[in-house]
Amino acid sequence: MGKKVTVVGAGFYGSTTAQRLAEYDVFDTVVITDIVEGKPAGLALDLNQSRAIEGFETKVVGVTTGPNGEGYENIEGSDVVVITAGLPRKPGMSRMDLLETNAKIVRQVAENVAKYAPNAVVIVVSNPLDEMTALAQLATQFPKNRVLGQAGMLDTARFSNFVAEALNVPVASVRTLTLGSHGDTMVPVPSKSTVNGKPLRDAMPAEQIEELVVKTRNGGAEVVALLKTGSAYYAPSAAAARMAKAVAEDSGEVMPVCAWVDGEYGISGVYLGVEAAIGAEGVKRVVETDLDADERASLLEAAEAVRAKQGDISSM
Ligand code: NAI
Ligand code: 2OP
Repeated sequence: MGKKVTVVGAGFYGSTTAQRLAEYDVFDTVVITDIVEGKPAGLALDLNQSRAIEGFETKVVGVTTGPNGEGYENIEGSDVVVITAGLPRKPGMSRMDLLETNAKIVRQVAENVAKYAPNAVVIVVSNPLDEMTALAQLATQFPKNRVLGQAGMLDTARFSNFVAEALNVPVASVRTLTLGSHGDTMVPVPSKSTVNGKPLRDAMPAEQIEELVVKTRNGGAEVVALLKTGSAYYAPSAAAARMAKAVAEDSGEVMPVCAWVDGEYGISGVYLGVEAAIGAEGVKRVVETDLDADERASLLEAAEAVRAKQGDISSM
């Protein structure tokens, strides 16, 4: 059977994700939905008209959904659903300022996903990311491995880009890692970062690494401040699309994602940014890596910060 992926939300994040997924040419169908009349259908038409040029066979279907779940029957049979519905930040806002508004949207979306695509793997991107991922699991009641969030792929890619630029080396020669939350308690991991296979710590002084760590933590806000009307979407959509592809291909690729942590690092019962092997069932397993004492302490701190917030969402 051909693979099917649904992207909920046809804004900047959703439309660029749908484009990347279609261009991979690994899915039979990409469904893109939104509550705005005509917009998803227009984007689908436009994307399908690029098929002859880009050379992909995937068909894109655009669907407007209604307040009572109208239109959701079109997502039936989806192997993966990427939830991008929700407001983005404006300059000066933190991701947490979006909590109440986006919680209502994500809950409604997740309930419909559970009804119409009960076997899907759900990848959440709506902010605040760690909380919305926990909420989507609550609202779908899917097994926790089948609901995960996108943050670490993006934050890691930002860190790698900043390191490559600072050293003027190809980005392909750089490996970095970020764990923790998609927020103030993001944990970039210099001890696991390398340039041409050699420790990052040998390639630049500690103060410069710290500067890039701070820049990575503020990576999203820096884009928001420049765009003024919304947040980043090229790097974020690349991250979510790669995760969806790993699910569709059952690749087992190890990626930094927001996953349910149950004992790893001595942390339990929380959605948190960790490395995990991704495949057809979502998270195959969380991969625990060796961390420095201070990185481990930061990860524990991040876990407690997001645990407190994730506790609030059950009433939203
Ligand atoms: P956008 O404003 O361009 O698009 C959001 C879309 O969601 C709009 O088209 C809106 O009509 C739609 N929508 C609202 N309620 C809906 C519902 N109930 N069902 C279906 N669609 C609905 O915003 P953008 O840039 O696409 O960002 C989307 C979300 O992704 C935001 O919450 C943003 O903060 C988050 N984000 C997360 C990142 C991450 O790393 N996890 C990175 C970048 C953005
Ligand atoms: C980002 O990191 C705002 O979460 C969004 O770009």
